[in-house]
Parts: sequence; structure tokens; C-alpha cells
Amino acid sequence: MRARERRNSGTITIVWVEPIPVDLSGVPETLLWNLGRRAAAARSGASVLDDPLAIEVVDRLQYDFGDVSRGVMWHAVRVATFDEAVRGFLNEHPAGTVVALGEGLETQFWRLDNGRMHWLTVDLPATMDLRRRVLPEDPRQRSYAGSALDLRWLDHVDRAAPVLVTAQGLLMYFQRSEVHELIAAIAARLPGSLFVFDVVPEAMLELARRQHGRESKQAVELWSWFFGFRERVAISQIPGVAGIRDLVPPRASGIVPLILRAVRRLPRRARYALPVLPVLEVRFR
Ligand SMILES: C[S@@+](CC[C@H](N)C(=O)[O-])C[C@H]1O[C@@H](n2cnc3c(N)ncnc32)[C@H](O)[C@@H]1O
Repeated sequence: MRARERRNSGTITIVWVEPIPVDLSGVPETLLWNLGRRAAAARSGASVLDDPLAIEVVDRLQYDFGDVSRGVMWHAVRVATFDEAVRGFLNEHPAGTVVALGEGLETQFWRLDNGRMHWLTVDLPATMDLRRRVLPEDPRQRSYAGSALDLRWLDHVDRAAPVLVTAQGLLMYFQRSEVHELIAAIAARLPGSLFVFDVVPEAMLELARRQHGRESKQAVELWSWFFGFRERVAISQIPGVAGIRDLVPPRASGIVPLILRAVRRLPRRARYALPVLPVLEVRFR
């Protein structure tokens, strides 16, 4: 057991918390890389990401996060780009539904909760089990323990309200045909919805191959689907796709947001030749 401080209006309470063991491998383990970086960004006080719950979760898990300092700001800006997309959707549709595919231990619900939105988390059973042990659950949250690829999660989406689907750090682990089938299924079953996801360009694979860390090595083994100009065209031609655009990273202090916003202004071919992960939004008819 270990102690954790809770600071509340000037008083400090010591809360004894059992550490929670983590037993994940393969793609599910990658959720810890993202969580570790969100917590590191939040601890650093970077204005781009305020995520006290991520810090709390990291402190509770019995897991060696290793050195998460590399790429923290790049990751934080990507997360903030997702947040901005979801926030924009909720501004238009405050009671809309957000479906988070492969959500892992993302704490986005608590970063963005407007008190009215509905949320569906879709992730593999082992990950959902950990998520339920670590994170609180609000009555407006539901979950589906299963693969995003088996499509049964679509039966759990309330189609009466507008829907935004996200897949943060997920599609690169699928085969190309699986990604295309997933997009086609969302188009067919959730017309009028939006799908926001990040992608790994080939240049990112080249960079990861040159790096020596444990995460880079695992990523090279696990990534299957790579993005580029031709993939963008192919996605835009999937029946039901009305449009596809690269999202603009939010304005924030620091060099990384500046670089990423500058990259976003490059012509597409040049942009996708760089080792950065674009965040895309697909709109369905
Ligand atoms: C890189 S993590 C991303 C987690 C979270 N979205 C984030 O950004 O912190 C990949 C996530 O995808 C989940 N995952 C892997 N295969 C999946 C599948 N077929 N269907 C749904 N989720 C899957 C893993 O369990 C894990 O939570």
C-alpha cells in the first residue's frame, strides 16, 4: 500500500490506495505509453493539456512506465487536437454521443464533460477490465468490451442523437482492409456522423526503426497500416464518405504546437512525408 495526498481547500488528507497491478501485452500495453505521456504533460504544467486524472491513474498503477519524457509535447498536442474536435462537436450538439474506439485509459470524458453528452467506450475485454478497476463511471458513460472490428458495438449506439466516433492510437494496429471496412461500416450504420482518428505515415515507421527504445521496437512490430497521400484518396472514395480533412492542432505556447501548425500548412504530399502523426476527420453523408 502507498499513501497519496489529497489537497482540498487547504487541508491535506492522506488516502491509502492499493496499487493496481497491470498485466497487458501486445497492442493493449501501448495504452500505457499514451497514458504515461498524458500524465507527464499534465505534470509539466503544459498549457496544452490539463489532465489531473491521468496523473492520479499513473500513480495508482503498478507498472514501470520507464522514461516517458520523449515525445511528451508531440503527444500532448495530438491529444489536444482530438479534444478540440470533440469539443467542437459538443458545442454544436451538447447532448450528442461520443464513441471512443480503443479508448484504453483515456480520461477524455473528464476533460470535456459538459454534463449532457453521452459516451460509449469500445475496447478489448482485458483493457475494459482494467479501465473499470481504475476509472470512475458516470451514468452517461457506457462501454462495450469487444473488438472495434466485430461491429457489434454499432448496435449500442443511440442513433437518435448526433454521433462522433474517435479512434486515437488505434487504426495503425489494424490491417488496411480492416480500416477500410470499419470506415465503410460506420458510413453505412451511422450516416451523418464524424470519425476522427490519427494515422502513422511511412516516414514515422522509418524514424521508429532508427530509434532504440523499447517502445519504438514494439511499435515497429505492431504497426500494420500506414498512411499517405494515396490512402487519403482511397478513404475519400469509400461509399458514404462525404469529406476528409486534416485537423489543425490548437494554438498553444511552445515550439511543438508551432511546428505542427506549420506542418499542417504544407501541401499534403510534403506533409505526409514527415514523421508526424496527422489527425484526420472523415465526414459521412
Ligand atoms: C495505443 S492504445 C490507445 C489508447 C487510447 N486511445 C489513448 O490514446 O490513450 C491502443 C488501444 O487500442 C485497444 N485495442 C487494440 N485492438 C483493439 C480492437 N480490435 N478493438 C478495440 N480496441 C482495441 C487497446 O486495448 C488499447 O486500449
